[in-house]
Amino acid sequence: MTAGRADAAGPGTPVAVSLAHGRLAGLDEIADVGRDAARGGYSRHLWQGPELELRGWFTERAARLCLDVETDRNGNLWAWWGLPGADAVVTGSHLDSVPGGGGYDGPLGVVSALDAVARLQASGFTPARPFAVLVFAEEEGSRFGVACLGSRLLSGAIDADTARALTDRNGVTLAEASARAGLDPAHLGADPASIERIGLFIELHVEQGRGLIDLGRPVAVASSILAHGRWRLSFSGQGNHAGATSMAARRDPMIAAARAIVAVQDAALAQPGSRATVGRLEVVPGGTNVIASTVHAWLDARAETDTETRTLVTEITARAQEEAATNGCSATVTEESWAPQVRFDPVLRERFALALGDVPRLPSGAGHDAGVLARRVPSAMLFVRNPTGISHAPEEFAERDDCAAGVEALEQLLRDLL
Ligand code: HGY
Ligand code: MN
Ligand code: MN
Repeated sequence: MTAGRADAAGPGTPVAVSLAHGRLAGLDEIADVGRDAARGGYSRHLWQGPELELRGWFTERAARLCLDVETDRNGNLWAWWGLPGADAVVTGSHLDSVPGGGGYDGPLGVVSALDAVARLQASGFTPARPFAVLVFAEEEGSRFGVACLGSRLLSGAIDADTARALTDRNGVTLAEASARAGLDPAHLGADPASIERIGLFIELHVEQGRGLIDLGRPVAVASSILAHGRWRLSFSGQGNHAGATSMAARRDPMIAAARAIVAVQDAALAQPGSRATVGRLEVVPGGTNVIASTVHAWLDARAETDTETRTLVTEITARAQEEAATNGCSATVTEESWAPQVRFDPVLRERFALALGDVPRLPSGAGHDAGVLARRVPSAMLFVRNPTGISHAPEEFAERDDCAAGVEALEQLLRDLL
């Protein structure tokens, strides 16, 4: 806590406001929710213990600000300041995480939104148009495999039957999980009444990269998001005994998968600007003394444009097929999630960047709910500097002063918009 910050809030701002709000106390309140002792960091997945606890925390924090919280048909939380209505200004992000993720990816945007509301209220401001803080469900797709599932359902960007049938690693369908969470699975899907209420959406997010470190600035406005998707590469061979099977007699899918994963790196390096990752494997049956029968490898592939991403995946698919054939195995490649390139509305981008003192405009290698909404409503993003440049890992971080600068930037934009 730097006392100077209070003075920096400027004359007329009650010290209590600048000290109590905009210092992200909410991050401290949830700092122990969903800690993952095995992986480090946090594991907070849709409608499971920690994420349910965070939903309760958000609802209680919003109520303290006299915001009325409603859960929409897809499990997204809307905290309204005043009556819900058309042409609303909406800000927010997500509370779920990747397995072993950092504490800022998602929560920083939610806590910053609540702090910005608290600062506006403490200054006596009342909005002249409808306003809500929105918390999206399943942004990371860590439970059901599709990124930004809550914003895709809200905006009709995913077929409802396809979504209902998605399963988690225990075979629980989204339909079943949503029912257990108190929703009606039959109502999952496009929510035109809700999406049409949004006049403008703005998401504050910790930067997941090194842009602001290299620029030496605390806050930026987003310019674009890479095209990106997820594919399941499945290699099938012949399960067998690790000791009784000669090397020549094997049809080992682990070898095919391993060589294909190296080919993933080769393909991405051969296509400048693209990124491809295999961070998750599933081996069947998974015995130490057993030659696998099947190996599943999940590919995350990204590039500037849709075409470049598709080209990359086509190359990777061909290499996977080759490695399978060479090892007497078969391979299938199944698309599980796809997000086209996003270019944020340049008018909003420049209006916000200039309003904030000509802050940098940065591209995003990470996908966001704001990118999904940008297809339907005017959307923008603010990034807050992450001094480690690391994300989706426990080292993800943001300095409190930079977080406070993010809250003040968001508050300023909301004040203008509202
Ligand atoms: O994977 C992403 O880009 C985002 O963090 N969901
Ligand atoms: Mn993320
Ligand atoms: Mn995120």
